[in-house]
Amino acid sequence: MDSLKGKTTLITGASAGIGKATAYAFAKEGSNLVLIARRIEKLEEIKNDLEDTYGVKVFIDKVDVSDFEDCKRFFNSIPENLKTPDILVNNAGLAFGMEKLIEKPIEDIEKMIDVNVKGFIYITNLFVPLMVERGSGTIVNVGSIAGREVYPGGNVYCATKHAVKALSSALRIELVDTPIRVIEIAPGLVETEFSIVRFKGDKEKAKNVYKGLTPLYPEDIADLILYTATRPPHVQINEVVIMPTNQATTTIIHREENE
Ligand SMILES: NC(=O)c1ccc[n+]([C@@H]2O[C@H](COP(=O)([O-])OP(=O)(O)OC[C@H]3O[C@@H](n4cnc5c(N)ncnc54)[C@H](OP(=O)(O)O)[C@@H]3O)[C@@H](O)[C@H]2O)c1
Repeated sequence: MDSLKGKTTLITGASAGIGKATAYAFAKEGSNLVLIARRIEKLEEIKNDLEDTYGVKVFIDKVDVSDFEDCKRFFNSIPENLKTPDILVNNAGLAFGMEKLIEKPIEDIEKMIDVNVKGFIYITNLFVPLMVERGSGTIVNVGSIAGREVYPGGNVYCATKHAVKALSSALRIELVDTPIRVIEIAPGLVETEFSIVRFKGDKEKAKNVYKGLTPLYPEDIADLILYTATRPPHVQINEVVIMPTNQATTTIIHREENE
């Protein structure tokens, strides 16, 4: 494993779920961190815990990745040595609802596109040029199996995750003559706050998404991100699809009754 000691990892959407678990996995291996999300109070708790437990340096900022002005403010205000992370994890993302496309509230549609697609592009375009200039770095993009298939009610979310896959491929092509590697991780069902956000706080509906099966946990994805990002520099794992054992596709899921 390529050592993370003294390296810097920037993680978007680090206040919960996969992003938070990734922060813990990387801190455990000695990486300093730059963590962003909108809920700064959650990031403060994580920063204090990681600094106390692992002795790494953690820089946090309240950033809405869907707002380019806010992304620029963040980029311009962070200390110079953090502007060029060794690893960039583009993880912030969300889904809203399961309505048909023609019935979906337009503000939900815009938010998914703004966060999942534009936010990903904003952060990439701000940070990757300096990684290229330095001549090293790893980009890990959190896509989804929704970027491989379309399921009923998935419409816009699936479109945004197809975009993450397309943009990851585009970056890989465009950076082929550099040492920068581009990795896309495409998970199936992971139990995080994702479904609570999707169903706008309805915890019962959210719980049903994972009913009757053992889902993936955020730590499983963090483990995979850590693995892919720490291969020797000549190894680029282009993409990984990862699902719970009882999931075969977005819709073929084996669920035990009474669980
Ligand atoms: N859970 C799954 O089943 C699953 C499956 C495949 C792919 N994914 C993908 O995995 C990624 C992480 O999701 P998760 O499952 O860990 O969900 P989660 O627990 O809801 O975490 C989402 C993270 O994104 C952040 N975020 C949302 N909007 C943001 C914005 N405008 N600006 C900055 N940060 C923002 C949230 O922080 P704040 O709310 O504090 O801003 C939070 O830290 C997403 O890209 C999601 O599409 C999830």
